[in-house]
Amino acid sequence: MFLKGKIAVVTGGASGIGLALAVRFIKEGATVVISDINEKAVNEKAIEIGATAIVANVAKEDDVKALVEKATDQFGQIDLFVSNAGIAKFGDPFSPEGDWDFSWHVNVMSQVYAAKYVLPQMIARGDGYLLNTASAAGLLVEFHSAIYSTTKHAAVGFAEWIAATYKGNGIKVSVLCPSAVKTPMAAGVAAMQEGALEPEEVAVAVVKAIEKEQFMISTHASIWPLYSVKSQDYDKYIDLLVERRAYKLALDNKE
Ligand SMILES: NC(=O)c1ccc[n+]([C@@H]2O[C@H](COP(=O)([O-])OP(=O)(O)OC[C@H]3O[C@@H](n4cnc5c(N)ncnc54)[C@H](O)[C@@H]3O)[C@@H](O)[C@H]2O)c1
Repeated sequence: MFLKGKIAVVTGGASGIGLALAVRFIKEGATVVISDINEKAVNEKAIEIGATAIVANVAKEDDVKALVEKATDQFGQIDLFVSNAGIAKFGDPFSPEGDWDFSWHVNVMSQVYAAKYVLPQMIARGDGYLLNTASAAGLLVEFHSAIYSTTKHAAVGFAEWIAATYKGNGIKVSVLCPSAVKTPMAAGVAAMQEGALEPEEVAVAVVKAIEKEQFMISTHASIWPLYSVKSQDYDKYIDLLVERRAYKLALDNKE
């Protein structure tokens, strides 16, 4: 899909990857709505980049419904919905259930709600595009947080399900799986600085992938050798994870 003349909504659009995507989409000729939970930031950034701001907390179904309705009322339709808002909460099996629940809603249910409310209009037109931001942590385990890894794996699974189910209805789906990107989310985590990309570099890759209607958008080729081991010898993959975990956590003095 080419972005010129298209209507795009980007959640988590006030910062980092979402903001870079919005800027790039506007450059390509799209009309862009940026949405964010941070009211001040989203209003300021929208003015700065020439987008429309809609405040929404994507963890809440009613907010996502209202976001889809407002954007559709204002622009007639949504061609591309980017479920990008996410949080990186540290956590393991001993973390409070509330930490798991919160991340589950922001990183996964937000994408389910978006599909629930935007797919009907896209299916009716026989055309539409969902781009869901997951992470390389949705393909390979990220050692710092069981919560982040688990919710991002779920996001990849959901994107695969939507792609497999609605391809025949003209629905295009991409899942964005970067490793480290230099945004406020990654700041201060030493292990996230290795090979980190600028959000603008990610945005260029995303636009190219959307033009090719490519499902997997992986910005870091470095993940695929290990992923290949995972697909061929799962037990070897687990052994390699044990080794890599010690190295990665040592970077942040976590062990
Ligand atoms: N930065 C990285 O290294 C990296 C790597 C892989 C994947 N990701 C993913 O990319 C996405 C964007 O992350 P980023 O790095 O740009 O982070 P960021 O912190 O710069 O931006 C995230 C934005 O989402 C907004 N947000 C958070 N919770 C929200 C909610 N409940 N409702 C609406 N908006 C909400 C924040 O206000 C913020 O503006 C996330 O899904 C993240 O998991 C980031």
